[in-house]
Order: sequence, then C-alpha cells, then structure tokens
Amino acid sequence: MEPLVDTFGRVHRDLRISVTDRCNFRCTYCMPEEGMNWLPRRELLSFEEIERVARILVERFGVDSIRLTGGEPTVRANLPLLVEKLAALGTDLAMTTNGSTLRLLADDLKTAGLKRLNVSLDTLQADRFLEMTRRDDLAKVLDGIDAARAAGFAPIKVNAVVMRGVNDDELVDFASWARDLGLIMRFIEFMPLDADKAWTNTTVVGLTEIVERIGAVYPLEAVQRGSAPATTFRYADGGGEIGVIASVTQSFCDSCDRIRLSAEGQFRNCLFAVDEYDMRPILRSGGSDDDLAESMRGAVAEKWAGHQINQVHFIRPRKSMSQLGG
Ligand code: GTP
Ligand code: 5AD
Ligand code: SF4
Repeated sequence: MEPLVDTFGRVHRDLRISVTDRCNFRCTYCMPEEGMNWLPRRELLSFEEIERVARILVERFGVDSIRLTGGEPTVRANLPLLVEKLAALGTDLAMTTNGSTLRLLADDLKTAGLKRLNVSLDTLQADRFLEMTRRDDLAKVLDGIDAARAAGFAPIKVNAVVMRGVNDDELVDFASWARDLGLIMRFIEFMPLDADKAWTNTTVVGLTEIVERIGAVYPLEAVQRGSAPATTFRYADGGGEIGVIASVTQSFCDSCDRIRLSAEGQFRNCLFAVDEYDMRPILRSGGSDDDLAESMRGAVAEKWAGHQINQVHFIRPRKSMSQLGG
C-alpha cells in the first residue's frame, strides 16, 4: 500500500464522488435561477469507470472512505447498482442527499450496502423552503428522512448551511427538532461557492455564534476534535450532539484528507481547487491502472496548503457547489 501524501505530509484517505451534476432542486445559493446546462449523458463516467477509479484509490492508495454526492446523487438512474459495486470495495460508504427521493430509495440503498446518510436541509419552514430551493418539497424531504430512519440508517446527519438574515433565526428550532428525532444536526458556515456570488463575509454565521445561540437554550460541551470537518459539541443533558462545520472561521485545511472525483471524471485535490486532473481521457483511450494512478499521485503532490477564503488573493473556483458536490 502506498499512501497518497502531499508535500505537507497530509495522507489522503477520503474520496468524494459526484455521480451527477443534476439536481431536482434549484437552491438559490447553489444554482443560477435560469438553471444549468446539464452534462450530456456520455460525458458522465459510467458506473464501471467510477468503480475502476475508486478501486485503484482503495487498493493502491488505501482510501478507506467514500461518499457519493452530486448535484443530487439520487437523480442518477440505478444508483443502488453503483452502491453495490462500491460497497464491495469494503470502505466506509456514505451519501449526501437533499432527501427528497428517500421515500422511494432508502430501502434499496440500504440493501445495496450504503452505510451512512447525510441530508441537506436549510429550513424547517415550508414557505422559506420554497423560496430557498425553488421547490415546494419540504414535506417530501421530512418524509424522506422518516423513510431513511425506518430503513435503519442511524445516525442520520442533517446539514444546514447557516446564512445571516436568511435562516439564522432557525438555529434553535433545528436543534430541538433534531434532538426529538435522534438526528445529528450539523450547522455549516456559508462558503464562497454560491452560484449567484451573493456571498460576503457578513452572510457567514460563525461557529462561536452558532454554539452560543444554541447553548443558551441547550447547554453544550465541546468534544475532542478529529480529522473530520465538523467540530462536535454534546448536549450537557445527554440529548445527543451537534456538529459545526467551520470552513470559514476555523479552516480545517491543515488536516484535510480529501480528494474528489467529478461526475465527468475530473480529479480534484481540494473543494476550492482551480486545477483539475482529467481521468476520463485516460479511462477512454485504453490507459492502464498505472497511468491513472500516476495522474492521481501528481494531483495530490500539487495540493496547496489551504483555501485562503479570508485572504485577498482568494480565487473563487469556476464551478459551483452543484458541480463540486460539497
Ligand atoms: P461526515 O463524514 O458524515 O462527517 O460527512 P462530511 O461532513 O464529510 O460530508 P457532507 O457531505 O455532509 O459535507 C458537509 C459540509 O462540509 C458541506 O457543506 C461540505 O461542502 C463541507 N465540506 C466537505 N468537504 C469539505 C472540504 O474538503 N473542505 C471544505 N472547506 N468543506 C468541506
Ligand atoms: N457553503 C457551505 N455549504 C454549502 N453547501 C452547498 N453550498 C454551500 C456553500 N456555499 C452544502 C449543501 C450540502 C453540502 C453537500 O454542501 O447544503 O449540505
Ligand atoms: Fe441541489 Fe444540493 Fe444544489 Fe440544492 S444545494 S440545488 S439540493 S445540489
């Protein structure tokens, strides 16, 4: 086994695979109102191509964690088939979804071998949900979460991106709701990856404020931090835990162990990366596993120290979150 190490000594074991750039929602911070030009089907990696890239990463480089993302991963037809192929590689296998299709798919995904599920949900208010996602589907998402619980996914994490003046009045509502249902609520600092470039520093609600506002109602205790992006806090009364993903105010780049594969086969060494390393021409022109591995090695070797969101020379990636998969 040859670990994928960059020049800063970070070992990369966590792979995020975007399986489609499509989504059935149009979240305002993620997609332009006029919609996106979806990739034509032939541009997407096939399940066999995705499995081949994943297999090399697992078998040669010791990747031990795979997460499926999108767009919305469940809009890709026959997703459970891909889950089955990837589950056979024996890693921790998870998915991040908007939850709207889980009533239909949760059982099949569980049976196929999906181990963990994170659901993105930024408001618990139906009118606000419609405004934020341009879809009137809050009830569907809540029902999807119920279906996932019934299918045996536990614990389910719910991700809310917190934006000042948009949904930051719901912090405590989210905490109460998730406590009642036994879900792990995670609050995400808003990052400058939004489609309509509405991000400014003042829209960010930082970790300290999030923890203060929830802690005032449900006292919280810090839990030792691991390599995961989320900083965890536990309710003092034993009512579970919350996570805060503080990408902006307390960047976790120095312990980052992530690599990404886009729906069309671009390998990325950072969410904010400007360069991409294209696997598809290698896959489609008879390249060997060694050729693919060499390109992956090169991509990780060139990884930078971190994203520099708070610095003047921060460069916004050309792609939006719907193409990057979070
Ligand atoms: P767990 O393993 O269950 O903790 O999931 P996760 O937090 O790794 O994945 P998820 O898809 O739920 O992502 C939650 C939030 O973290 C999203 O807003 C992502 O954009 C953000 N995130 C994930 N990976 C990275 C990363 O490498 N860098 C930064 N800055 N943010 C990330
Ligand atoms: N900042 C932070 N998180 C974001 N997400 C989408 N756009 C942003 C952003 N600009 C989140 C989604 C989902 C995850 C994959 O990324 O809400 O939870
Ligand atoms: Fe779809 Fe997720 Fe983007 Fe919303 S944030 S439009 S659910 S990909």
